[in-house]
Amino acid sequence: MTTKTTVGKAVFPVAGLGTRFLPATKAQPKEMLPIVDKPLIQYAVEEAYDAGIRHMVFVTGRNKRAIEDHFDTAYELETELESAGKHELLALVHSIKPDDMDCSYVRQPRSLGLGHAVLCAQPLVGDEPFAVLLADDLMTGLEGGKSVLRQMVEVFERVRTSVIAVQEVPLDHVKRYGIVAGDPAGDRLTRVRQMVEKPSPDKAPSRMGVAGRYILTPAVFDQIRQQPRGAGGEIQLTDGIARLIATEGVHAFQYEGKRYDCGSKQGFLEATVELALRHPEVRDEFRAFLKQVVC
Ligand code: G1P
Repeated sequence: MTTKTTVGKAVFPVAGLGTRFLPATKAQPKEMLPIVDKPLIQYAVEEAYDAGIRHMVFVTGRNKRAIEDHFDTAYELETELESAGKHELLALVHSIKPDDMDCSYVRQPRSLGLGHAVLCAQPLVGDEPFAVLLADDLMTGLEGGKSVLRQMVEVFERVRTSVIAVQEVPLDHVKRYGIVAGDPAGDRLTRVRQMVEKPSPDKAPSRMGVAGRYILTPAVFDQIRQQPRGAGGEIQLTDGIARLIATEGVHAFQYEGKRYDCGSKQGFLEATVELALRHPEVRDEFRAFLKQVVC
């Protein structure tokens, strides 16, 4: 049982078009693609819940109704399962949205960038620190250990500045990430001095890439509102956070665990294989199958 934390709300920007995963994402949200038996968005929501967060805020767009339906009551299905006596399945369906969890939805009317998506959540977030989770980054903490967001909430409670998750990335990948550089500030922590969105390898201040988990102070909203457009002509979240460095300070945290970039085919496949090998229902048969196909 996790106790309530100072971070009460999590924002899930889910309005993106998922073009890297066409044709699968033509008529369904990329966040609903399943890894083994659970959609990506559910992994992210469970991670936030594990971190003590109880209010989930989804920034949605057109074609994203399936996400709202997933966290809503499914009367027909539940009635059928009930009358068929399929209690385990019914409990599974109910567990998607625990009773003490609230969900709110706000639309991002135009694709103006991740910073803009986060800004759309401001009326629901208010004047409190909040988490941001990018669902196509599937994060697993250490087996049996704390989830990545839980680790970050604990760091936030100590440092009281915005905290961003980072990992080392190969030099030829820096242009895919927000990149941070700064000074060591204790175990796995860096006090950020510089933060830049998708630099070319020759301009990157380091190889520390931002993974899709953030704890942000509400001051970021004003910064995003005032900043000019950034990389790719978009309103970037990275730029808003970078503007907090001078005012409040920002920490980068090298989390314990693993990130799968499930917005890419390779990352999606790696997550599928590794999570299948941990799934109690399929792991033994699947391991035997893999041995057969790779030998
Ligand atoms: C976004 C952020 C980037 C971050 C990345 C992590 O980029 O803008 O700073 O490193 O997520 O997945 P996107 O992958 O949406 O282009």
